[in-house]
Amino acid sequence: MSHTEDPSGDRRDFLYYATAGTGVVVAGAAGWPLVNSMNPSADTRAASQKRVDVSDVSVGTQLTVLFLGKPIFIRRRTTEEIEAARGVEMSDLVDAESRNENAEGADAEDINRSLPTVDGENTGEWLAMQGVCTHLGCVPLGDGAGDFGGWFCPCHGSHYDTAGRIRSGPAPENLHIPLVAFIDDTTILLG
Ligand code: FES
Repeated sequence: MSHTEDPSGDRRDFLYYATAGTGVVVAGAAGWPLVNSMNPSADTRAASQKRVDVSDVSVGTQLTVLFLGKPIFIRRRTTEEIEAARGVEMSDLVDAESRNENAEGADAEDINRSLPTVDGENTGEWLAMQGVCTHLGCVPLGDGAGDFGGWFCPCHGSHYDTAGRIRSGPAPENLHIPLVAFIDDTTILLG
C-alpha cells in the first residue's frame, strides 16, 4: 500500500527509522575509533543544535519548539509541580529509568530529569523533554493534563506526571529527554 493510501504510513516509517537509528548507535559504540575519524564538521554539528530563548517563559507555562522534527516541551514548573514530582516514591513509578540523555543510567528521580541552571543548580524549576508519547508517538496534552497533573496522551490514554514520567496507560517509558543544557541565564541549547 502506498503512503497516499495509508495515512499511518508516516508513523510506521518513523518507528522503523527510530529502530534503525538505535542499531546505528549500538554499532557505533563498537566501532568508535573508526567512526570518530569520520565525525561531522562543526557546521554539521551546529545544524543539529538549537538555541532557545526562554526569557519570556513564566512560571507555570510551557514553551513548545520543534527540534529535529520532534516537539520539545520546555516547562517552567510551579513550586507545587516540583513538590509533586519530588514527592513521588520510586516504587510508584512504571518506568524507573531517567530516560535522560544527559544522565544516562540514572534512575527516574525528578532531580535526574529536571534541568540545572547554567551554574549547575537544580531547583527543579525547568524541565525540557520530547513531547512524544512513548506508546505510539502522539503528542501529549500539557498544562496539568491527566490524572497526575502533568501531561495526558489522548490517543490511548497515557498519563504522565509533572516530571513527564509515565504513571498509567499503555506508554512503557517516561517521556525522553534529549541532550539539553542552559548556556546562560535565559538560553537553552538543544543537541
Ligand atoms: S500514543 Fe500515547 S497512549 Fe498511545
